[in-house]
Amino acid sequence: MTAPRRLRSQDWFDNPDHADMTALYLERFMNYGTTPEELRSGRPIIGIAQSGSDLNPCNRHHLDLAKRVRDGIRDAGGIAIEFPSHPLFENCKRPTAALDRNLAYLGLVELLYGYPFDGVVLTTGCDKTTPSAIMAAATVDIPAIVLSGGPMLDGWHEGHLVGSGTVIWQSRRKLSAGEITRDEFLQSALDSAPSIGHCNTMGTASTMNAIAEALGMSLTGCAAIPAAYRERGQIAYRTGLRAVELVHEDIRPSQILTRAAFLNAIRVNSAIGGSTNAQPHLMAMARHAGADLRPEDWQAHGYDVPLLANVQPAGAWLGERFHRAGGVPAVMWELLQAGVLDGDCPTVTGRTMARNLEGRESKDREVIKPYDAPMMARAGFLVLRGNLFDFAIMKTSAISDDFRARYLSQPGQENIFEATAFVFDGSADYHARINDPALPIDADSILVIRGAGPLGWPGAAEVVNMQPPDRLIQAGIRSLPTLGDGRQSGTADSPSILNASPESAAGGGLAWLRTGDRIRIDLNQGRCDMLVDEAEIARRKADGIPATPASATPWQRIYRDTVTQLSEGATIRDAEDFTRISATLPRH
Ligand code: FES
Ligand code: MG
Repeated sequence: MTAPRRLRSQDWFDNPDHADMTALYLERFMNYGTTPEELRSGRPIIGIAQSGSDLNPCNRHHLDLAKRVRDGIRDAGGIAIEFPSHPLFENCKRPTAALDRNLAYLGLVELLYGYPFDGVVLTTGCDKTTPSAIMAAATVDIPAIVLSGGPMLDGWHEGHLVGSGTVIWQSRRKLSAGEITRDEFLQSALDSAPSIGHCNTMGTASTMNAIAEALGMSLTGCAAIPAAYRERGQIAYRTGLRAVELVHEDIRPSQILTRAAFLNAIRVNSAIGGSTNAQPHLMAMARHAGADLRPEDWQAHGYDVPLLANVQPAGAWLGERFHRAGGVPAVMWELLQAGVLDGDCPTVTGRTMARNLEGRESKDREVIKPYDAPMMARAGFLVLRGNLFDFAIMKTSAISDDFRARYLSQPGQENIFEATAFVFDGSADYHARINDPALPIDADSILVIRGAGPLGWPGAAEVVNMQPPDRLIQAGIRSLPTLGDGRQSGTADSPSILNASPESAAGGGLAWLRTGDRIRIDLNQGRCDMLVDEAEIARRKADGIPATPASATPWQRIYRDTVTQLSEGATIRDAEDFTRISATLPRH
């Protein structure tokens, strides 16, 4: 241990210049039996940012795990103070949980900055709990470590693996095709969620916790341990221990959350077949960390990386087998051996990433493929631009053989296709009209949704993976190309073009698109354009931007007044004006 230095918390609890304030700061903590001697002993005060509650079922077992975190903190000589963070429950918050990511971020910044914390354990799980917590830790820049809650056990339905989220997209197509009943649809969804934990697919939750680990913000192997396994409680204990050591060693997020670490995270996202939501969340974390990350980095550093993890939705298996195959470290081990990972990045273990990965080779090659025999070569996100938007991504690992054969394999026109646009203003419009027999959607169509971005929704909704009309599904056309200024669930198996920025509500090109327009997509050139001439586009601008719902709550209005586009992470504008704010203490 290095020599004791004056801790941040001592400015509250042991401040000779402010005897009166110190008395006030101390006295109410006695309410739960803490003694003044403990709080004045110079031990690190470690916050446990508790994301679990009845309102966040995916993270709820953190209420139990926190006991093991506390044990670890205490055994390492620290004092734990547990507090709630704003709940972010992906499946249930309307009009979308994305609206609340920045709210949770803001709340946690105020708590970490304004209260006597020397370090913090960030409990994470459900999609946005991870980025919001890391964003806050980056802004405040006190020693911080991520403890994910882990995925649910694998789901089984009628003898088949069913992954959370992914089964919804699969079953709704079967329902539309008349292959299952509504009761069977419901049962397949319920069976996909058999235990405590977050989504067991490589959806946004598993992706963002893998990314936390790839960034170096959690203990090695943390992300993939299923919530119900004993190892989950053990790593909670070790995380608590390590949180105290981080304070003594003064290892801060600013040393870990570098450009090199973010590029590693992009590579890992490709190799695990990770969620498209990683794009805005990684950008947001980088912005708040003050790290240089650019929208085009996704293609420049991620596209060429192969898919290694055979996990739904891009593969076959679920969280339990992924963990037993070695989890995130085994994927990163492959990337490191192949020379596509920066092994020098510092991490919360106090060692470099390369050291963390020693001996972590996978033992199960059905689930984690070798780098030179992958599930798919070049499996990252393509970055597209054109007259419809300046930025959008397409998840190539979700392109099915059927989709590739129909749209991307015309001789002499590989990776190029045209389609007729059918434009929907939000998901209510889509649901109202998709099965209208008068709407001539066919295999030559592309489904477009707008009004689904950060400003339009508000919050950017997961609605772009629209399914074709029932009559097409019944005729065997199970998917169509889709495009939109919203997002899609990380559990979706659709190669949509999404996160289009600027969005329609911000006056992006999607605002001027009309049903019946032809759209040309050229994946070789990274282009997506409406084949409408400039004069016609100019004429349409007189019609104005398509309307979106008014703000229904105070926060919706504040969010809209402050939010950036998805290409920029949908952060609070000028996020980088506030980085490393713990360099100064708040006034008394
Ligand atoms: Fe919470 Fe998927 S809904 S993790
Ligand atoms: Mg989601």
